[in-house]
Amino acid sequence: MKRIFTAIAAAVLLGVPAMAQKYVIDTKKTSLVIDAEEGKAPAFRYYGARLAEGDLVGAQLNTDKRSAYPTRLDSAPTPDALSVEMPDGNVTVDLRVESASISALEGGKELEICCKDPLYPTFKVRIHYRSCEAEDMIETWTDIVNEGKKPVVLHRFDSGFLPIDEGDVWLVSLHGSWGNECKLVTEPLARGTREISGHNGICNNAIAHSEVMFSLDGEPRENSGRVIGAALCYGGNFELRVVTKNDSAHRFLAGICPRDSWYTLGKGETFTTPKLAYSWSDEGMGGVSRNFHRWGRKYMLTHGGEPGDILLNSWEGVYFDINEEDMHRMANDIKAIGGELFVIDDGWFGSEKYPRNDDKQGLGDWSVLPEKLPHGIQGMADYCKSIGIKFGIWIEPEMCNIGSELYEKHPDWVIGAKGRDIVPGRGGSQLVLDLCNPAVQDHVFGVLDNIMKQAPGVSYIKWDCNYLINSPGSPYLKNQNHLYIEYMRGLTKVLDRVREAYPDLAIQLCSSGGRRVGWGLLPWFDEFWTSDNTDALQRIRIQWGTSLFFPAEAMACHVSASPNHQTGRLIPLKYRIDVAMSGRLGFELQPSKLSEKEREICKNAVADYKTIRETVQCGDLYRLMSPFDKKGVASLMYCSPDKTQAAFFWWRTEFLRGEHPPRVPLAGLDPDMNYRITELNKVEGEPVMALDGKVVSGRFLMSNGFRIPGKSSYFGSNDWHSHVLRLDAVK
Ligand code: GLA
Repeated sequence: MKRIFTAIAAAVLLGVPAMAQKYVIDTKKTSLVIDAEEGKAPAFRYYGARLAEGDLVGAQLNTDKRSAYPTRLDSAPTPDALSVEMPDGNVTVDLRVESASISALEGGKELEICCKDPLYPTFKVRIHYRSCEAEDMIETWTDIVNEGKKPVVLHRFDSGFLPIDEGDVWLVSLHGSWGNECKLVTEPLARGTREISGHNGICNNAIAHSEVMFSLDGEPRENSGRVIGAALCYGGNFELRVVTKNDSAHRFLAGICPRDSWYTLGKGETFTTPKLAYSWSDEGMGGVSRNFHRWGRKYMLTHGGEPGDILLNSWEGVYFDINEEDMHRMANDIKAIGGELFVIDDGWFGSEKYPRNDDKQGLGDWSVLPEKLPHGIQGMADYCKSIGIKFGIWIEPEMCNIGSELYEKHPDWVIGAKGRDIVPGRGGSQLVLDLCNPAVQDHVFGVLDNIMKQAPGVSYIKWDCNYLINSPGSPYLKNQNHLYIEYMRGLTKVLDRVREAYPDLAIQLCSSGGRRVGWGLLPWFDEFWTSDNTDALQRIRIQWGTSLFFPAEAMACHVSASPNHQTGRLIPLKYRIDVAMSGRLGFELQPSKLSEKEREICKNAVADYKTIRETVQCGDLYRLMSPFDKKGVASLMYCSPDKTQAAFFWWRTEFLRGEHPPRVPLAGLDPDMNYRITELNKVEGEPVMALDGKVVSGRFLMSNGFRIPGKSSYFGSNDWHSHVLRLDAVK
């Protein structure tokens, strides 16, 4: 996990002598100001555009000083971030600053404010703010400390509080369901409380997401206007609240969802909340996305900044019907079109009694089925190596089926409320293992560890999670209120062990598609499976929403068969490829069903993708025309950080005769550079864009964009009209 900064130098205190209690954390373009005066409540004073020298004195910081970490005792009542029950039953807490310091870290600074309650001096809270300067990101979290002899019960323990003192603020959030992830929801903030939460225990981005944006200048725009983006970095139950009172100021709080999770903080114990990460930009939603992407690549993703391989996954090609001969053929097929990795999905394992031939049994029994892979996993890895590609495999280690030897042996290892019938999930038989239990943690780690020991040639793992907690109860825990929190602790302990033992392994995070896509779990992973829905038309929307916070490098986008297995839609191969090429390109089909001509199209596309892979996966994203705006077109582009290359994507989302597609001005280019335009993924080898091969200035492209023909000449139908263009700076 790439989360460790090196602390350097002794504490550096910033600020003007006359207002020594003010602590300023600057990033490249933003400033955060907190008042921390000894004996007083810590106060949140400012977050926004970077302050110049003198602004601290002259600027109107938030005059209405709000507690930086509100509790019920605040004079101007704010929803509380912290709520506790003291050992004597007192349900109030009063935080007063004891000390504060700023220390320099690699890439930024950290402000730590130590507070205690004068009435209960053994109850302490340390509030942290850490900056990632180049990425314009702030991370905040708290340590809640009980130095007393008796337990304190935490009723609410948010990660952070952010007041937004603006009028016409709009909220942007992501909402979805299986196969329809990350739909953009844009709404003006009305008075009252808006709550966004996830509380299914283990795959909490199934419906709502713990990431939001606030547009401070009315309805949000892509590349202009002031926007704050915030992400609670937690894979477990979460709750975001935006409270808007009559004064029209908004208070944003985010943390672990306290519902069913009151936490008993024992003697001498410290509870550290997950991080809340936020970013301010005056370049609209796109500016915030780019900050999150840069930060995600640098500090969060394992192997961030290293582009992912082009792969073939076996799932939609063969489902459970795995046999070695077919697997060899598929490995050869992906190699032949220029791919670099072959992944065997579900269905390769089980036990003699419970072979995994469908989703009803076998989870938990992680032995290779010899009838499917007679030479084992290492045999497959060796084979792939011999033909010059890498090999990966699917696991779902946090689960078992009722039909498994594991469950027969350890019925007490599964989650389920005491005295109640078990409530199985997928296949009518799937159960969640109780990761609160250290023995189960060993088992889950062992699933991956055993694979890697018997097959060290495996270089990629798809880690799936297809069920959730719907009958909460841990046979292991004494305090059932701790179940959700201890599950996540158990999981992260396992993932720490995995990363320590296998630092180079690429691991994909999957949960029936994108139900775990979030910055809570991604730090242990390289990428995520964006959605089980591989229909290119719907993927444009899913990938669009996902791109608000997550970089293309991590977004697995696979070309699948037509008709599509989820929607039945018939979509030409070029369009499917043009959509998948805007993320981490892969394939999820049976290549033997492709015609020679289709294989050729795939081969050319892979070769073309390799010329823009770095720019797509590690460049700066500019979303240009949203599929949610219903203009009949969606378009986005990526620019390399030095702006010498760009990749432009344009997809028709609706064709109506007589309606000309809107012109899309580009963004992010250098106005003073000239760019040679190359059309990629040409199906017949012929360009359709009149500009193919021409040189045009960045300035022209950013004010005019391309004139794209009203009709596609490739296919009989105009519905499936798309273009991918590469722009290379020329001297
Ligand atoms: C989940 C995943 C799919 C596939 C299946 C296998 O649904 O999202 O990609 O791996 O499980 O059972």
